[in-house]
Amino acid sequence: MKILITGASKGMGKGVAMALAGFSQVHEIILLCRSEESGWVTMKELQGFSKNAKISMVQCDLSKLADVKKVIGEIENQHHHLDGLFINAGIGYAKTRIETQDCMDSHFQVNYLSQFLFTLNLLSLLENSKKGGRVIFNVTEFGKIRWDDMQMTRKWSYEKAIHQAMAAKRMFMVQLHHFYSRNKHGNVSFIGFRVHKTVWTDQINIIPSGMKIMARLAKLFGAFISIETCGKVMAPLFLENREESLQRSGKLITWKKNRFEEMKQKYFTFSQPDLDRLWAGSLALCRDEKTLEVTNRLLPLKKQNSSKCNEKTP
Ligand SMILES: NC(=O)c1ccc[n+]([C@@H]2O[C@H](COP(=O)([O-])OP(=O)(O)OC[C@H]3O[C@@H](n4cnc5c(N)ncnc54)[C@H](OP(=O)(O)O)[C@@H]3O)[C@@H](O)[C@H]2O)c1
Repeated sequence: MKILITGASKGMGKGVAMALAGFSQVHEIILLCRSEESGWVTMKELQGFSKNAKISMVQCDLSKLADVKKVIGEIENQHHHLDGLFINAGIGYAKTRIETQDCMDSHFQVNYLSQFLFTLNLLSLLENSKKGGRVIFNVTEFGKIRWDDMQMTRKWSYEKAIHQAMAAKRMFMVQLHHFYSRNKHGNVSFIGFRVHKTVWTDQINIIPSGMKIMARLAKLFGAFISIETCGKVMAPLFLENREESLQRSGKLITWKKNRFEEMKQKYFTFSQPDLDRLWAGSLALCRDEKTLEVTNRLLPLKKQNSSKCNEKTP
């Protein structure tokens, strides 16, 4: 299988890459990394214990739409299919709101919008998968969309920004599932995974000292898991067969009592107008003809979305 992981240089993305590298049925793992240097280090490390997998790397800063468009072109040129995509990269703690060069809130753009653009453009590669393409979204059950201020220029906090991006990712996942289950022949599944315990990652090095002390105490009481454990739990989602994967499509799942368990419906039930509104707003922000064409291929709502692209940025 050929699997691409966003945010693979460290944390959960690296944990999943490490676990996948140990399976003989995984033939290629593509690491999408912001920094070429740290991506290179992770790639070399993974090559050291990979069973069968070719490990490659693409560099892309998800806070820049131009970078995302460039890397999509590179991937399309080099690959005919993809069996799995892990939508994982994200910014966690931040002291202040950072506006990107595309004039968006950085959490919104990195954690959600760039990966909306990225996923849409890779759908045709996932459709080409003989194993049944699958997109696993790293999400939580929290968050809401701040329709009146999606870029959070007024009331920003890093928690609100993270949670809004989580809600947006869940909505994107559900909408994709709707399109594929209603309009297409279901060769791609879209699954939200909520990790069952907090994963101990480099975030510990950037959070304020009070939070650090609390985290270290909580760690003593078993509140955290390592990236390796997280990777071992998640890896089967990328490896299971098409039918199993399609059965999970459109669902938010977690890990409980040594098996995957579906979470309550309320966490991923959204009204169709809200799903359409977010989709149209996201397309408008991408400002990309090619992505519009992808959407037109998917959507009965295409006319509505195309016209919204000329509207003012939300
Ligand atoms: N840790 C948890 O318990 C937990 C639980 C639920 C959900 N999550 C979510 O899961 C995701 C990963 O979390 P984590 O704990 O593994 O975080 P992490 O250790 O900080 O890893 C984040 C990854 O995203 C990459 N990234 C950040 N900004 C990027 C950008 N502009 N362009 C490309 N890549 C970028 C990072 O690359 P660099 O190496 O260049 O920084 C890194 O590889 C986040 O969205 C987080 O909110 C985490």
